[in-house]
Amino acid sequence: MPAAKTGQRAEHVAIIMDGNGRWAQARGRPRLFGHHAGARRVSEIVEACPELGVRYLTIFAFSTENWRRTQSEVTGLMTLFRRYILKEAQRLLDRGVRVRFIGDRDRLDPKLVRLMDDLEVLTRGNDHVHLTIALNYGGRDEVTRATRRLAREVAEGKLNPEDVSAETLSRFLDTHTLPDPDLVIRTSGEARISNFLLWQSAYSEYEFIDTLWPDFTAAHFARILDSFGKRERRYGAVGG
Ligand code: FPP
Repeated sequence: MPAAKTGQRAEHVAIIMDGNGRWAQARGRPRLFGHHAGARRVSEIVEACPELGVRYLTIFAFSTENWRRTQSEVTGLMTLFRRYILKEAQRLLDRGVRVRFIGDRDRLDPKLVRLMDDLEVLTRGNDHVHLTIALNYGGRDEVTRATRRLAREVAEGKLNPEDVSAETLSRFLDTHTLPDPDLVIRTSGEARISNFLLWQSAYSEYEFIDTLWPDFTAAHFARILDSFGKRERRYGAVGG
């Protein structure tokens, strides 16, 4: 792959939305207050995408590790996801947003899964912005589930082990219809990737910023995208 020229656009941006709890704590409020503020930012950032040239946005809403939080926080987050879908569905449809969910749906409440499925179906004709919400998602879990399905095809004689390539495995991932992210942003000052898009972000650029997610605005987003345009991506090649 040739080195990308500077001035490039980030077509696919993935975001680890971190810092809701600290944002609430700083205001003496419960953690869920921060998650609600964070949900409002999601809408702002999704709506900023077309103008900023971002066609794919993937957001980390709930990880396979987040079940370890208190029961009340987990329940509150699940209620928030349900309400977000109910409240935003029409708006997302009208704005040309196609919504997909990645992650393991088996552990989620069937009522929530139904809403997720319905939103995917409702918006599947849209092509303006592709919003992917990672819910009960973990990169290792995704690769494990993909490998299990792949192994099943081998066992059934549908796939020859010699033909298994990186492309083959990619086809079994939750993200099989999406391009790899160009840029991964994490808010709140933590410099970790926390099991997010492990396979897909092999050549992504990373941006770690101190801003807490509920304070992250479209203006922050625009600035980060602007500085991404000045980076040189080499994909292992020598720079020119
Ligand atoms: C991390 O902040 C955030 C989460 C685990 C939840 C992300 C959820 C939202 C932004 C809510 C809305 C999402 C959608 C799709 C409607 P944290 O709680 O770990 O913050 P902390 O590190 O300050 O404790």
